[in-house]
Amino acid sequence: MYNITIFASGTGSNARKIVEHFKTHPDIRVNRVVSNRQTAAVLEMAATHGITTQVIKRSYFYDTQDILQDLADTDLIVLAGFLWLIPAYFVQAFPNKIINIHPALLPKYGGKGMYGMNVHRAVEAAGEHESGISIHYVNEHYDEGQIIFQASCALEKGDDASVIATKVLALEHQHFAPVIEQLLLKIHRS
Ligand code: GRF
Repeated sequence: MYNITIFASGTGSNARKIVEHFKTHPDIRVNRVVSNRQTAAVLEMAATHGITTQVIKRSYFYDTQDILQDLADTDLIVLAGFLWLIPAYFVQAFPNKIINIHPALLPKYGGKGMYGMNVHRAVEAAGEHESGISIHYVNEHYDEGQIIFQASCALEKGDDASVIATKVLALEHQHFAPVIEQLLLKIHRS
């Protein structure tokens, strides 16, 4: 059995999709959800599915490396709306085993401060004709790791940030779990 740990801070709509996708999978399961917010809705969703949940404090994540013990049985770390920068010790402990989803076509509209509606507002302001999603490996810099997968959606004249957000989220829900599945199968075949 291959174990996925999801890191999420918010609503967790992507986390939910991933959990549901693997619910009946014979070889892959989500076995842990980690959040930096005690009240994050994603924790309730995970608990409903019988998944172990963990809330971490800044000091635990940045000043100790104890979390590596907690994740000893993890094969892939999936960031799904997790906003903290991943520290170097953590990246080194999971080479090519941490991925993130970003709601734009990187390398554009990435980096510090580019999250949530900030991204979609910037895309709107630039008058882009398309946006999309990027699934990428995670390193010590925001949104800079190697891109694994991208999908795009056309933007119409007059699409405001909230319309763009809706289109992009639909792409995330469509692609994230299947890309994770392919990646895990590839990792374990090599
Ligand atoms: C997604 O748009 C994802 O691209 C970004 O954070 C958002 C999380 O949304 N990294 P949700 O909590 O999964 O609904």
